[in-house]
Order: sequence, then C-alpha cells, then structure tokens
Amino acid sequence: MLKKWSAAVLAGALALGALAGCGGDDAGGGTGSGGDDKLTLGFSQVGAESGWRTANTKSIQEAAATAGIELKFSDAQGKQENQIKAIRSFIAQRVDVIAFSPVVESGWDTVLKEAKDAEIPVILTDRAVDSKDTTLYKSFIGSDFVLEGKKAGEWLVKDYEGKNDPVNIVELQGTPGAAPANDRKAGFADVIKADPKFKVVASQTGQFTRTDGKEVMEAFLKSQPKIDVLYAHNDDMGLGAIEAIEAAGKKPGTDIKIITVDAVKDGMTALSEGKINYIVECSPLLGPQLMDLAKKVKAGETVEARVLTEETTFTQEQAKAVLAERKY
Ligand code: AHR
Repeated sequence: MLKKWSAAVLAGALALGALAGCGGDDAGGGTGSGGDDKLTLGFSQVGAESGWRTANTKSIQEAAATAGIELKFSDAQGKQENQIKAIRSFIAQRVDVIAFSPVVESGWDTVLKEAKDAEIPVILTDRAVDSKDTTLYKSFIGSDFVLEGKKAGEWLVKDYEGKNDPVNIVELQGTPGAAPANDRKAGFADVIKADPKFKVVASQTGQFTRTDGKEVMEAFLKSQPKIDVLYAHNDDMGLGAIEAIEAAGKKPGTDIKIITVDAVKDGMTALSEGKINYIVECSPLLGPQLMDLAKKVKAGETVEARVLTEETTFTQEQAKAVLAERKY
C-alpha cells in the first residue's frame, strides 16, 4: 500500500517538476537519499531578487558542504506554485529534511500536511507561514521582521525630535503577502503613529528588487509634491530609488532621508557615502544554524520552535567603521 502511494507521488512529482521547468536545480526528480547515511536536505529558495537573497543562498550552500549534508537546492523564481512543486518533489524523493523560505505567508497547509503524512520534517527559514497548525513544521529560524520595522520607525522619531513640521514619508514595500513586507510595514506604522506629524503619503510594492524600487520611486517623485523620507523594506529597493532621486536632480540622504533594511555590502556602501541615513540589519547568514537544526531533527531530537537571528542597526558613522570587513 505504502509502496503504491510512494510510486504515485513520485510519478506525479516528476510530472510536476517537468511542468515547473525545474531543470537545472535539484527538485525535479532524482533518486532520493537512497539509504546511505548522508543527510539529504531539500531546500526551496524564494529566488534571487536581492543581494540579501544571493548571500543567503551562498550561506546555505556553503554550510551544507561544510556539514557534509547533501543539498537538493531549488530556486522558485519568486513563485509560490514553484515552491509547492519543489516540496512535493522532495517528498517523492524521500529527502530526510525539507527546508524552505516561503515566498508568501499564506497557502501552505496542504503541502505541509503532505510532508507531515510522509514523516519528513520541515524547517522554515527566513520567513514564516501563517498556518494555525504549528505541528506542520519543526522550527522556524529567522529574523523578527516586526522588530526591524519598529527599529526603522524609532530612528525616524528620534531624528525628527523637537521638530513640528509635517514629515511626508514614501514607502517601498517588499513582495505583496511576504512576511517581511507585512511585518516591516506593520512595525514601522506602529511606532510612527504616536506622532501625527509623520504621514505615509504613498506606499507601494517594489518587489524587493532594485529595478522596481527605481521605477516606483520615479512615480512617487512625479506624483508627490513633497517627499521628506523614503522607507524601503530592503537595501536593493533603496538603491534603485537612489538612482531615481539622483536622476530627478535631488540629493539622496540630504533632500530625501532614506531608511532601509538588510545591510548588504552595497547598502552599507551607500550608507557610508551619506546616500542612505540608517540601515536596520537583517542577517542572511542562516546556513550554519539551519544545518545544525536539520541534523537534530533527523536524529529525532527536540529543537527550539523559534530560533531568532541576532541583528543590529547601522548609522552612517558605524557603516564607515565596518564596511571594509563586510563579507556580503
Ligand atoms: O526575507 C528576507 C528579505 O527578502 C530581505 O530583507 C530581502 O532583501 C529579501 O528579498
């Protein structure tokens, strides 16, 4: 009975893998862990939308190699349906552990239930899901995105302390429905609402990419008569917006203050040059902790349900001091 079920799932997943165009990564088929002792980890990545994501992928690939873990890596190219197909393929291949960074928060219950029924433990990395049933995954390792949004808001409140003029803010949101977009928006709004002088005059998605950040900022600059502050949910959108601001003849960091999240090297460079005013760090270096968790769940050990990433914030002066040794 079990054999029949596995064969059916494998056939289905192979077909789905072909449909998804999974060629080039490791989710589209294969022979599975095949009984040797090496831990096999199936990992479904969001895509390659930002410098943060590139650093995150590198961290996971390097940590797997160091830990002697066989990594089956799949790039979802920003699409939830590709992630669901990849997870089904990992189930069919009977990997030991599945990990993924969900593109969006909602819509995971069915596929997570399939993994649970197949007795393959799942670890969420970087981003959470909104499933009510928390037994569908073993652990969630990543940042507190609400806190990141709050830190951005707190810097702004402090920077405008003692001033009474209205402060017009434009916001570049991350991918719609993604946990970091929802939470960074909420955390920021929660802090600035205490003072009515702060007004978000425009807020739109820039999809966490430089290209969209630039395009949306160009539109903001045309539609908004006065912009004092840009809050971008990641460095890449902020960097795209800087290009738009400069092209409009304004000085980023001076004419328009800029707050971003991530602290990747390009963002830190712009911060140290005075083009960004403040960055809230979000660490992409989750690989080593993920490999530890994967080994523990495979061994049947109880793991922490929530593993928080340690992070800081950077002013322009602090960025100058650490830029040379920034690795990513
Ligand atoms: O989930 C983390 C976010 O995803 C990063 O802040 C952003 O750059 C990335 O695309």
